Amino acid sequence: MAEFIPVDPFDIVIFGGTGDLSKRKLIPALFHRFLDGQIDKTCRIVGVARSKLSQSDFAELAKVACQAATSEWSEAAWEKFASLLEYIAMDITKAGKDWDVLKGYLTNDGRPQIFYLATTPLIYVDVCKTLGDVGLNTPNARLVLEKPIGTDLESARAINEGVGAVFDERAIYRIDHYLGKETVQNLIVLRFANALFEPVWSRNAIDHVQITVAEDIGLEGRADYYDRSGAVRDMIQNHLLQLLCLTAMEPPNSLDADDVRTEKIKVLKALKPYTAETVGQNSVKAQYEAGLVHGEKVSSYLDTLSAEDAQSETETFAALKVSIENGRWAGVPFYLRTGKRMEARRSSIMIQFKPTPHPLFNSADRVPNRLVMRLQPDEGMRLFMQIKEPGPGGMRLKYLPLDLSYAENFTVRYPDAYERLLMDVVRGNLALFMSRDEVEAAWRWVDQLLASWEESEQALETYAAGSQGPMQSAIMLDRDGREWWEQ
Ligand code: BG6
Repeated sequence: MAEFIPVDPFDIVIFGGTGDLSKRKLIPALFHRFLDGQIDKTCRIVGVARSKLSQSDFAELAKVACQAATSEWSEAAWEKFASLLEYIAMDITKAGKDWDVLKGYLTNDGRPQIFYLATTPLIYVDVCKTLGDVGLNTPNARLVLEKPIGTDLESARAINEGVGAVFDERAIYRIDHYLGKETVQNLIVLRFANALFEPVWSRNAIDHVQITVAEDIGLEGRADYYDRSGAVRDMIQNHLLQLLCLTAMEPPNSLDADDVRTEKIKVLKALKPYTAETVGQNSVKAQYEAGLVHGEKVSSYLDTLSAEDAQSETETFAALKVSIENGRWAGVPFYLRTGKRMEARRSSIMIQFKPTPHPLFNSADRVPNRLVMRLQPDEGMRLFMQIKEPGPGGMRLKYLPLDLSYAENFTVRYPDAYERLLMDVVRGNLALFMSRDEVEAAWRWVDQLLASWEESEQALETYAAGSQGPMQSAIMLDRDGREWWEQ
């Protein structure tokens, strides 16, 4: 069973408290931590938004959200949790009397006061300025910023500077919820708590790496945001690059935030930039057309947009061949791929090792070892190996995984990524959050990719909804004599 160590009492203010993220993730995450006894009953959870809701309207909205995210419902437990909730309707970009009401909800006993910006990033700087004006940027304050931090390097810098003018960098928690996923953290444990892997974790033994984050869902009511963003800004700039960093980074000196971040930034700075000349061979962008997802008809991306956006060239899929220019990884491609409306929700990191150097067995049996870390669904790890098929019928080999499935080995409900990350904010542990430099280094590289696409007028390919993506993505690997890992 998992052990939940209680955290110290804290107050949290969720700006955008009635929004999608708050309802789907944040309030249920706090509820689950409360159910496991990790959150103290003196904590205050304050929802803030523009909607003129009463306290009981807000409690009802929170209840519906928690019920949707909880399998075993207890009305008694809910009542206790509901007593932690407060709500206030106000304009958070301007100082005024409402802030006094908000302050009145907060406990002034030196506990962490967490301000969670689950709003559009366009107002991050204004809200922080106001927090400063009304004196809420105290030494106990912690600011949590959701992605996207900007839409390019310039806008990310502007946000970081504006926010940094009010809060110290050590009080700023930039969330990438992929870093809160169990398998992602397990990647750190696997690499650095097992002596087995470090000697083979480099160009000496690894042929290539694949990172796939495939989604079967479409725009989920976020067309407005997504159409201005696309797969590269929405997924690669943050989630996939973070997975790449953890896979590729050098062993950090310690698990402290500074040490881990230092190693991740080195990887980001070693990513080979694309140019208009190289981008065509090393990337694919595509948009989905109508198709069948799990047997259900879905319309094309363009048909889900409003009429005025119907000519959109936004990519809903991207596949990249990435080179890391350092001694450990020279010549080892990292293939990244993400897309909406693909065949299934499937995310994994696949490390493919080099084949054995000498062909002792049939060449058909020379299948390389693969280590597959599955993020979702069925979190776990599998190390694919060759073994002898039992029996006297000669030397026949079988390719099978050593299987470490979480579901079979741990009888726990895995806390959602947000549950872990919120508790880390309370504990003041910055290791799983992105630093300003990381966000900016990631944007610098992504900006070059997007500019190269534009300069070279890279074609937007298409793929049927419910497929594995466009043919060109398979061709990109085929050119290198490789294939995408589809299991
Ligand atoms: C978000 C993206 O950051 O991550 C979404 O904005 C995406 O477009 C989501 O659907 C995927 O997260 P998860 O945890 O469901 O894989």
